[in-house]
Amino acid sequence: MASASQLRNRINRQGNDVRRILVTGASGDVGRKTLLHLLKTRPASDLVALVRDSSKAEDLAALGVELRQGDYFDRASLLHAFAGVEKLMMTSTHAFTDRKTAQGNVIRAAVDAGVEHLVSMSIARKKNSTFSMKEITEEDLFTEQMLMSSGLTYTLAYHPPFLDVLAFYIGANACETGVRVPAGSGKFAAATRDDLAAAHAAILSGDGHENKSYTLTGDPSVSFSDIAEILSNIHGKEVPHTTLSDEAYFELKRADGVPDFVVEFACKWVQGMNAGEWEDQTGDLEALIGRRAKTAPEFFRDDFPLSAKR
Ligand SMILES: NC(=O)c1ccc[n+]([C@@H]2O[C@H](COP(=O)([O-])OP(=O)(O)OC[C@H]3O[C@@H](n4cnc5c(N)ncnc54)[C@H](OP(=O)(O)O)[C@@H]3O)[C@@H](O)[C@H]2O)c1
Repeated sequence: MASASQLRNRINRQGNDVRRILVTGASGDVGRKTLLHLLKTRPASDLVALVRDSSKAEDLAALGVELRQGDYFDRASLLHAFAGVEKLMMTSTHAFTDRKTAQGNVIRAAVDAGVEHLVSMSIARKKNSTFSMKEITEEDLFTEQMLMSSGLTYTLAYHPPFLDVLAFYIGANACETGVRVPAGSGKFAAATRDDLAAAHAAILSGDGHENKSYTLTGDPSVSFSDIAEILSNIHGKEVPHTTLSDEAYFELKRADGVPDFVVEFACKWVQGMNAGEWEDQTGDLEALIGRRAKTAPEFFRDDFPLSAKR
């Protein structure tokens, strides 16, 4: 049954013919890209961007997207920002920032503000897998359970590793140094943030995604050894795949000034990739975006290491 605030939003929408979509994390990569994809099918007047700092999203404002300020740790700001919103994309927040409280606040505020449908993103988990990642798995499960028991219509978008972030694991200068990572031969179906954002936009602007989950995967799956071969082919020279002990990997990253807790986090991601935690391919990403997603060879040819980002 619709809540009082949902009914109020519906009446407002009928009066004003507005079905507004809000995307959180709009000053960041995935959130901004989701809005840019939404702009291809929806008028800017339908779209709202949640930001902490408006100066970081002036480009979106220039395109006509309304900016609203809000912080995941300030529920009053969220409640205010979500007024009149029908669908909400919750861009997950950074590890090591109390994601349970932050994302829980977004869900509670969405309920209180009368939002109808919330789209949430989690890191994909293989069926029956026992693999878990500190700061990720437990927080994702918490968020999903809270969302599914909130009474909101939901869609869960499960993500693979971002292709755009692989530079952090293998080194932005991997073409010169070789692909240096802890040992393992598993494959992973990484995808670009841009294609994942396009899938979010398809969910937010289309129908039939109510109370469904999608596991978004790239194609083909690749291993670190495959990546070394891809780089070798692109650059016409041998780029070796060198396996390191976890200790040696720590030393390498420490020398780059990366704090230990971040190296530990990176190691866990690499272990998951090497263990095949994200090897499965589902076809969900292509089905949602209606085209082939960018492949790993295309990404390494066109974008590596330009998009290197921690
Ligand atoms: N699948 C993967 O391989 C992978 C890799 C890395 C990250 N991730 C996840 O994907 C998410 C999105 O990635 P991204 O590349 O778009 O990250 P990003 O560029 O760092 O963007 C994160 C966004 O979250 C916002 N944010 C952070 N804390 C907030 C708060 N307390 N209140 C409101 N907004 C807040 C940031 O706002 P500000 O600009 O104000 O900081 C920013 O807009 C990450 O947050 C992380 O959970 C996944």
